[in-house]
Amino acid sequence: MRARAAVLAEVKKPLEIWELEVDAPKEGEVLVRVVAAGVCHSDLHYIQGDLETPLPAIPGHEGAGVVEAVGPGVTRFRPGDPVVFVFRAFCGHCFYCLNGRPALCDFSNPIRRTGRMFDGTTRFHRNGTDVHHVLGVSCFAEYTVVPEQGLLSLPPDIPLDRAALVGCGVTTGVGAVLFAAGVRAGETVLVIGCGGVGLNVVQGAALVGAGPVIAADVVPQKLEWARQLGATHTIDPREQDVVEVVRELTGGRGADYAFEVIGRADTIQQAYAATRKGGTTVIVGLTPMGTTVPLDPLDLLRTEKTIKATLYGSANLPRDIPRLLELYRLGRLRLDELISRRLRLEEINDGFEAMLAGSVARSIVVFEH
Ligand code: APR
Ligand code: ZN
Repeated sequence: MRARAAVLAEVKKPLEIWELEVDAPKEGEVLVRVVAAGVCHSDLHYIQGDLETPLPAIPGHEGAGVVEAVGPGVTRFRPGDPVVFVFRAFCGHCFYCLNGRPALCDFSNPIRRTGRMFDGTTRFHRNGTDVHHVLGVSCFAEYTVVPEQGLLSLPPDIPLDRAALVGCGVTTGVGAVLFAAGVRAGETVLVIGCGGVGLNVVQGAALVGAGPVIAADVVPQKLEWARQLGATHTIDPREQDVVEVVRELTGGRGADYAFEVIGRADTIQQAYAATRKGGTTVIVGLTPMGTTVPLDPLDLLRTEKTIKATLYGSANLPRDIPRLLELYRLGRLRLDELISRRLRLEEINDGFEAMLAGSVARSIVVFEH
């Protein structure tokens, strides 16, 4: 079949809309009609070349859609099923999966590394040239093919644009608080970077009753959204010293938990400095490949801080994605407010520009089929 897709042909260039041939799903694969795809900063990392992936390729890893067809041997899905993509397809029976850590499963490493399915071929082509998969999802396309392990079923009542966000930003951000850090009521939280992911760290902290919840961002509108999602205090680092303000608000100690949700060496150091003795610095943002952060082991020892990182919110995906959707249904988790802008596929580069300009929480591509 034919489908339009936003293709990364060359790094540091805008995505191009290509008309592609999409193969039928092979053994264990599913063809999905994509309904909505979030524009996440991780996609921008590929575009800017901060993260590498074989090119040309179709990015997009935060999305939801409807199963169009299934390949031989697929048992868990049928045409018509609403599904959300998971960008770390997991086998379900290895050590990590059995320990509730599917994002650490090695199952989909070959797809991520090669940009090809397990048989070494791609399902996307243009004029005989292979177009690669990204993270085994590639949902900036009208239709995509993924391994069945890269999908989770959705309940029928959740709008697919809202569900898409749970495929990355919401689970990563809320999960960082609930599952990675395990923040409890009354504990103090700092969130540096309040974009699509950071705002979810803020709402996760509010959800568990943390306080104060201190949000830092260089864009005033982001601070406004952070307050709407439950931040009790906000800091513009261009005007105030983050570490100083956090100390003032936490009895001079620093935060119990400081989350870095940008992916920069300087703000990771800032988060560490703003963490109290015995507290935890949580790295959520992806740094460009090769980034290093100096570590003073003596300071670490004397302060007994913990530095930890979280991938995909450390969520047990098949358990936690339905949980998060239930919280949305109950009005405890906000998803509607996170979508600042809906785009057509042709407008996708505007979504990245808006992200860089800081004018959106999330933009989302909605496909008209
Ligand atoms: N101090 C505070 N905030 C900053 C600073 C800074 N020095 N520099 C940038 N920011 C803010 C931006 O204004 C923006 O609101 O960080 C936020 C980053 O948000 P987005 O660009 O929307 O990125 P997001 O999709 O949230 O992803 C954040 O997490 O999953 C990773 O790859 C992703 O590394 C990325 C990070
Ligand atoms: Zn993402």
